[in-house]
Amino acid sequence: MPSLRLAPASASDYRALAEKRLPRQMFDYVDGGAYDEHTLQANMSDFQHLRLRQHVMRDVSSLDMSINLFGTRMEMPVALAPVGFAGMMARRGETQAKRAADSIGIPFCLSTVSICPIAEVAAVSAKPFWFQLYMLRDRGVVKEMLARAKSAGVRTLVFTVDLAVLGARYRDIRNGLSGGSGAWGRFRSGLVSYLMHPAWLVDVGLKGKPHVFGNLAGYVPEAKTPADFAAWITEQIDPSVTWKDIEWLRSVWEGDLVIKGVLTPEDAKDAVKTGADGVIVSIHGGRQLDGVASTITALPKIAEAVGDDATVLMDGGIRSGLDAVKAIASGAKAVLIGRPWVYALASRGERGLEALLQTFANEMKVAMSLTGARNIREVTKDILDRTG
Ligand SMILES: Cc1cc2nc3c(=O)[nH]c(=O)nc-3n(C[C@H](O)[C@H](O)[C@H](O)COP(=O)(O)O)c2cc1C
Repeated sequence: MPSLRLAPASASDYRALAEKRLPRQMFDYVDGGAYDEHTLQANMSDFQHLRLRQHVMRDVSSLDMSINLFGTRMEMPVALAPVGFAGMMARRGETQAKRAADSIGIPFCLSTVSICPIAEVAAVSAKPFWFQLYMLRDRGVVKEMLARAKSAGVRTLVFTVDLAVLGARYRDIRNGLSGGSGAWGRFRSGLVSYLMHPAWLVDVGLKGKPHVFGNLAGYVPEAKTPADFAAWITEQIDPSVTWKDIEWLRSVWEGDLVIKGVLTPEDAKDAVKTGADGVIVSIHGGRQLDGVASTITALPKIAEAVGDDATVLMDGGIRSGLDAVKAIASGAKAVLIGRPWVYALASRGERGLEALLQTFANEMKVAMSLTGARNIREVTKDILDRTG
């Protein structure tokens, strides 16, 4: 029997709300992935093949989910992954996300290609946040961004390495988001689509300006909309980057350095050799190379290869606190979530995101309680059922 749908209960409920609220091309930009989206689907569905091992009659009356990561306490081992363009999904979205993350006690990671600039996010509170960097050809721009991040209190830099080239996203092409549509197409995806989504139009379209990539606006003064930045960014993404460039990055960044986008033990070890403090097992949420392994299947071997030499984090496909517990049991110290936080923010703003994060916390508590894990150190592969 269909439910009354009075309140969202899960990340997929927020997804359904976001689908209603956002213009089609915005929702598809967030929700979609590369090519036929096989890996995007596997990233989520592979969690279902992992089973938890129920373990009862242990005193689980006081449960501790907190961890210490890069010198900062997190109330639960979940962080908000960098998501470009998030400020087009909710009014000044990155600032709302930072406030929600602060209130739950977890880190927010700001993307290079955010709508809100570093300083606007920093003004939300004195609590530190993470900054994600793409290597641009113009190293002068990179240095300036890092200096701004440092003076805004950022101590953890997430350097994304899986975007040397752009994977094709069929939904974005079909919606004209990657260009190529004629005047009628632009009218349909613009004015017509906006008028069909009046709540978004008022909240973001009218009240959420300026719609520019805040961290880059000064370098492309003629750009007035995110689309105007696209060509500049595509041209600026540096495909020649290798592990050698990490040495340069190390020379200009003194804080913690986390390499995001490794999927093999070899690459993870190379990252550690360059002096990275952490790696994020990630495939950009299935938005780059379709046909690679899901991150949850790749994680255990990477965690084993890295051992105690660096911190292993992971993201991709996590849609509940149960998934988060499975990932931590598979070797991650903490996880990041991408799309779920954007769905919640897009549909219900900062309060929606807080509620979703609270749901994640509750789900993690239940998963830990019923597998007999009283703190995160006890969330190990022993709580996974490997009998079949
Ligand atoms: C709409 C969208 C935009 C993203 N933008 C960035 C970005 O700017 N920088 C980055 O390193 N990763 C980016 N990612 C990847 C996320 O940081 C993260 O790896 C991914 O979303 C995790 O998968 P999940 O969405 O299944 O949780 C983006 C992901 C999405 C969905």
